[in-house]
Amino acid sequence: MKLDANSLLNMKQLQPIAILTAYTCPVARCLEKAGIPAILVGDSVAMTEMGFSSTRQINMEHMVYHIGAVRRGAPNTHIIGDMPFDSDCDIRSATQNARRLLHAGADSIKLEGSKYSIISHLVENNMVVVGHTGLTPQTAEDFHKVGTTEQEAEQVYTEALGIEKAGAFMLVLEHIPATLASQITASVKIPTIGIGAGSDCDGQVLVINDAIGLGDKWPPFSKQYAHISPIIEQVARDFATEVAQGTSTHPKTQHQ
Ligand code: KIV
Repeated sequence: MKLDANSLLNMKQLQPIAILTAYTCPVARCLEKAGIPAILVGDSVAMTEMGFSSTRQINMEHMVYHIGAVRRGAPNTHIIGDMPFDSDCDIRSATQNARRLLHAGADSIKLEGSKYSIISHLVENNMVVVGHTGLTPQTAEDFHKVGTTEQEAEQVYTEALGIEKAGAFMLVLEHIPATLASQITASVKIPTIGIGAGSDCDGQVLVINDAIGLGDKWPPFSKQYAHISPIIEQVARDFATEVAQGTSTHPKTQHQ
């Protein structure tokens, strides 16, 4: 059963929320089968699947394409669609672009940083919004932990409260000290979803390619539950060897 924003919000009191990213139909199908309550089609797709060096390099067309694929794979799962860089810089374009992502199959949209008036406007127009503070890769200069100085921590804390006040129903906290995440989690009524933010958040999100070990480098805070890249390499080697030996065709089809 697909969870709406209210059901996810109510999970704050009831149970920890496990969110994974997905960008493709077959992976989304696996996550739905596993009972993951919400899938994030993150702009991390820029690096994980498209070979770009920054999330700033993808656009609305890319996000629409990936959200459509994930929706076809997970018709009964809440999908959060990431607003790509520069798609939400003013109220008018943010509204148009958010509508496009919802039309492509997202149930809610996520945007980074302290865009309070934009969040409020989207919410007033019946759109469901997830906020994101701490490390915000679209505008960060590097990927260091955010909120380690008193001043920065105060800034992240204020931003979290502002995002909640603007009407977001959920808040991603990325790469901040666990103590700060814990303090924010206790101060807001909406669920906090951590990535590199300690274990006291109301839920956790992981980038699927990091979790399955598909790729060659991961952030220090991401756990690998599997190592898929070496398996793909081995399949490719085995296949090439069998082609060379003339033994690659399936036994059942050999003489048809
Ligand atoms: O784009 C993404 O995958 C994200 C997560 C890291 C939260 O925003």
